[in-house]
Amino acid sequence: MINIAIDGHVGSGKSTLARGLADRLGFKVFDTGAIYRGLACAYKEKKYNGVNEENIKDFLKDIDVKIFFEDKLQHIVVCGKDYTQYLRLEEISMLAAQISPYKILRDKVVVLQRDFAKENNCIMEGRDIATVVLPNADVKIFITANEKVRANRRYEQIKNQPDAPSYDEILKDLRERDYKDEHREVAPLKPASDSIIIDTSNMNLEQTIEYCLKIIKSKTNI
Ligand code: DC
Repeated sequence: MINIAIDGHVGSGKSTLARGLADRLGFKVFDTGAIYRGLACAYKEKKYNGVNEENIKDFLKDIDVKIFFEDKLQHIVVCGKDYTQYLRLEEISMLAAQISPYKILRDKVVVLQRDFAKENNCIMEGRDIATVVLPNADVKIFITANEKVRANRRYEQIKNQPDAPSYDEILKDLRERDYKDEHREVAPLKPASDSIIIDTSNMNLEQTIEYCLKIIKSKTNI
């Protein structure tokens, strides 16, 4: 199987890039953040009193996670309940960020990720794919862009929505999330020693896809 790891900063466009590459290559995209989000949905339903090691341990005791694809959409089912439609709620984003640093929880997610990669030609995107999850991935890409460019892209996407945050709020939030991702104890965001770092500050999506395809073709026989 061919495995392509894409890691990168929040708002760097890694999900869009992963989907674009997958379409061109006929690969599956595995969105790892969605698993943390699905687990956050199930955690919320348990109504624990906050997030701590003890609660996380209890939560993981008899947890069962299933992932399946329907029309290219990755579904996350935790203990029989499909949470896919709730993954992007703001409250779930916050809870996913709180539960994802716990090593016992990450260990569980890593097993799911590796099992999937063994059986599928895939593009796996996240933050620790090249460094922790798939250290033997055939291609490792680390994608980033200047923080102001990333904040502006996000602002342009959502500025017409009701209650959209201002550009300054988006930039502040992005800086905080970068700091958390890069400084957490377990699996911090960083390129692997053999990752190819791509700064997309001055590239559009199509240029980034073309550039990545060249890299993938040079490193694999597809
Ligand atoms: O990429 P995302 O925003 O969907 O990720 C949701 C949360 O999961 C985010 O708080 C970071 C965490 N995450 C992680 O710790 N490791 C990954 N490989 C992917 C996501």
